Amino acid sequence: MITDLRGRDLITTQDWSVEELETLLAVAKHLKLQRAMGEPHPLLRDKVLTMLFFFSSTRTRASFEAGMAQLGGHAMFMESQTTQIAHGDTAKEIGDILGRYTAGLAIRNVDWGVGNKYITEVAKAARVPVLNMQCDRYHPFQALADLLTIMEKKGDPRQLTLDISYAHASSYQKPISVAQSLLLLATRFGMNVRLARPPEFALEEEVMRQAGENTRVAGGTLDVVETFAEGLGGADVVYAKSWGALTTSSADESADIGRRYTDWMVDAAQLAKADPAAIYMHPLPADRNLEVSDEVIDGPQSVVYDQAENRLHVQKAAMALTM
Ligand code: CP
Repeated sequence: MITDLRGRDLITTQDWSVEELETLLAVAKHLKLQRAMGEPHPLLRDKVLTMLFFFSSTRTRASFEAGMAQLGGHAMFMESQTTQIAHGDTAKEIGDILGRYTAGLAIRNVDWGVGNKYITEVAKAARVPVLNMQCDRYHPFQALADLLTIMEKKGDPRQLTLDISYAHASSYQKPISVAQSLLLLATRFGMNVRLARPPEFALEEEVMRQAGENTRVAGGTLDVVETFAEGLGGADVVYAKSWGALTTSSADESADIGRRYTDWMVDAAQLAKADPAAIYMHPLPADRNLEVSDEVIDGPQSVVYDQAENRLHVQKAAMALTM
């Protein structure tokens, strides 16, 4: 087990070894049990985390803020619109200056073609760990919480078939970062991954290349299918959510493309195509009755609340280990 992770950034899980990720998951489970038992764990007493948001959030903000308080520290909430970023503060200045004030920087910037570059530039300038709270390409803490949930509910991920699927939604501009991070992490852990998406909703070529290489190293399989039903067939884990088409930057064209796939929704009849013991997952917020029916997301196979809870535990682990 590799435990020396002080000072490390977490921008994509690809930057950490499997052994390091296993350490993070083990610490997350430990902290989860400590919290269940009411055992205080002030591992970051007197430390401050900067949380800088360029985009709205419910779960990410609340779980980082609560997590930092439970670790004995403080999370400082900042929004780009109410800082001098709009008036010229550069990524380098943000990294260098806020890194002098606080013990870690967590950033959400999902602007396509901008977010990942911004976080990477901040990380270069900062003397403290930088944690990616979601960018245009990756959402590592969502994927880590997802993997922890899969392991808790279904056991060894190496035996499991995971359906990562596009689903229809009212917004056609959602980031691809959840699908990409889950694909990258699941293939590191040897899962049998099926990526189901219409041709217009392909993921980045570089991410597909990395996922293929992960599969080669870890075992497991990676298949790309172009129908909703093929993704679902016999799957142990159904993870269907919307993302934007990379083939166009026009909102109107994107909307036209999205309307071709309104039948890509998980309802009871579709979920019945998966394994009878399959779990249904979604990172939330969901477009109810477009991506998923109420019956499924509120039904017995849905684990979306446990999944959301695990955000807290994996993020506390990452903060405790890196900060
Ligand atoms: N899943 C997720 O990141 O939720 P928020 O956008 O509410 O933070």
